[in-house]
Amino acid sequence: MKIVLGLVFVLTLSVIRAQVPHWGPCPEPEVQPAFSLQQFTGRWFEIAKLPAQFEKGRCIETNFTLRTDTSVRVVSSEVQKGQVRKIEGTGIVVDPKNPAKLGISYSYVLPYSPYWILSTDYVTFALVYSCTDVLRLFHVDFAWILGRTRSLPDSTIEKALNTFAYNNIDVTRMTPSRQQDCDKTF
Ligand SMILES: *[C@@H]1O[C@H](CO)[C@@H](O)[C@H](O)[C@H]1NC(C)=O
Repeated sequence: MKIVLGLVFVLTLSVIRAQVPHWGPCPEPEVQPAFSLQQFTGRWFEIAKLPAQFEKGRCIETNFTLRTDTSVRVVSSEVQKGQVRKIEGTGIVVDPKNPAKLGISYSYVLPYSPYWILSTDYVTFALVYSCTDVLRLFHVDFAWILGRTRSLPDSTIEKALNTFAYNNIDVTRMTPSRQQDCDKTF
């Protein structure tokens, strides 16, 4: 138990250290109406992310496969130092009345983190947001622009940034993810 708590603590610290926390509770963005988990399944490439993690891998993608009507298998992969690394997790619909608000966990010792689909057309792009309140005093958040292809038109990215900003999510420090030279075999 001590080890688990220590691990969670270290993870929390590194999450907090990864960026400047924002004061106040999490924003309450609008999410995708009538979200369909089934249409969301399949392969998504990470186009941009917040916060920037320059030291992390590239060619990041996630493959969602339906397990039940309200849960998905989540396999994320990245290329780091020429090696493909994969992690597997589970995504669930936390509240059936709010199907766009998923929770994802990559380990049974960790709680489900929010994974909210703010907007998606299922076939080109998806905007994902994750925010955690810390004592209601401040919050730490993550945001992703996902694409069905390894790059998206500038106009789509611009629209995505506007959608985040409209929902009071600060994406000024969002950075593009590296998706070059990914389709060779490692
Ligand atoms: C996604 O996962 C499914 C089920 O495990 C698998 O059949 C499919 O090949 C995977 N797709 C990719 C692109 O990895």
